[in-house]
Amino acid sequence: MSLQIVVLAAGKGQRMHSALPKVLHLLAGKPLLAHVLETALAVSTDRHPIVIYGHLGDQVKAVLSHFSVQWVEQTEQYGTGHALLQALPYINDADQVLVLSGDVPLMRAETVKALIEETPAGAVGMLTAVLDNPKGYGRVVRHASGVVQRVVEEKDANEAERLIQEINAGVYLAPAAFLKTCLPLLNKDNAQGEYYLPDMIVAAIKEKMTIVTVQPACVSEIKGVNDRVQLSACERLYQRQLAVSLMKQGVSIADPDRIDIRGEVEIASDVYIDVNVVLEGNVRIGTGCHIGAHSVIRESVLAQDVAVRSHSVIEGAEIGAACVIGPFARIRPGTVLAAEVHIGNFVEIKQSQIGLGSKVNHLSYIGDSDVGCAVNIGAGTITCNYDGAHKHKTVIGDKVHIGSGTQLVAPIMVGEGATIGAGSTLVVDAPAYALTLTHQLSQRSIEGWVRPRKK
Ligand code: UD1
Ligand code: MG
Repeated sequence: MSLQIVVLAAGKGQRMHSALPKVLHLLAGKPLLAHVLETALAVSTDRHPIVIYGHLGDQVKAVLSHFSVQWVEQTEQYGTGHALLQALPYINDADQVLVLSGDVPLMRAETVKALIEETPAGAVGMLTAVLDNPKGYGRVVRHASGVVQRVVEEKDANEAERLIQEINAGVYLAPAAFLKTCLPLLNKDNAQGEYYLPDMIVAAIKEKMTIVTVQPACVSEIKGVNDRVQLSACERLYQRQLAVSLMKQGVSIADPDRIDIRGEVEIASDVYIDVNVVLEGNVRIGTGCHIGAHSVIRESVLAQDVAVRSHSVIEGAEIGAACVIGPFARIRPGTVLAAEVHIGNFVEIKQSQIGLGSKVNHLSYIGDSDVGCAVNIGAGTITCNYDGAHKHKTVIGDKVHIGSGTQLVAPIMVGEGATIGAGSTLVVDAPAYALTLTHQLSQRSIEGWVRPRKK
């Protein structure tokens, strides 16, 4: 007997009020459906999971094309029972079918595996949870003896049923042969005029099948996303879980409710992360780093003991050990900083390499440049790298000292040990170990000069 996983993801997600299909809305930077597919693949790789897609299905398929799944279309969305029915022609009678919902992103594989283990062959398994606020979910109606009788949707429930706190999580395990006989017989005599998948519970009871219910270790796992309020609640739950697991590995987080991780991160112990930091994509942070408040780090690697001061944005960069960056610095893709480089406030570095111990501390733009070691670049230095059509390179040798307010019109080279006078505009190479300046010393002062005044 094999397991066939089916993920229901064809719905529009009316309550999101969005042009984007619900299952493509992002949780921690990843579509809801991607979270569910990762869970599905962690549960079993026996077979490719079947994904029921429908509303704006081409978009859904394109975004998730990197997953090995079997796509089955539900052209009209007549409800969850009708959705699962579409998968049945592709499933062997002898299989067990595990149903997951594309809008329940926090479900852990361990919980689903527990459902599989605890549901004997020939029974129907269902994940349920007891919620303080069960509003919006289908309620599990039990007989006084405790035996499950049916699931009633919020919109169909009477007052007494709405008080039931045990809800249906939308995750089921059932024999394919049973689904093949019962799903075509579901009716849509309900408030929403839909074929409800949970109605199969009533059919199973008629068949004298046992209904097994399993509850997750943590109720937050079953949270469904039907509107943006629930999406944000899931996001915060997910972020808090990530923060807690990082803290347990030795990372200090100033406030676990004010950090956002949207990708795969590897953070060494004794890293300190201040409030409102966003980490995106693949980010690696070495031991002893200090990430200042309101900083964004995306697709970058930081060696050890780096200090990123507040409000800095680092993207696609390699940052060497003990560098100091910011506050208010922007490091753009293709930047490689050697150890002990200092990048200060309002400095932008793009596609450039900067050597050991060099400093660019104030208000500068360094693009397409190769900067040596122990270089000091004064405030307001600009590499003029773009002629309107092409980018050109600037090469600055070791131990160069560039005075403030300098413009280096690329392509250009500044030789080792050179000094450039403040305010220069260099259009040709500057020789090593010489002072180069472009301005004529024609400053004069006019005594008794009177400023013009408005009439
Ligand atoms: C469903 C359950 C409810 C349960 C809740 C848990 C039904 C009738 N109700 O309600 O008991 O408490 O999930 O989160 O099943 N879908 C399709 N095709 C359709 C309709 C829906 O593929 O025609 C997909 C949706 O994309 C979604 C999933 O099925 O991923 C659940 O549908 P949704 O409309 O969100 O059902 P709920 O109202 O949340
Ligand atoms: Mg839902």
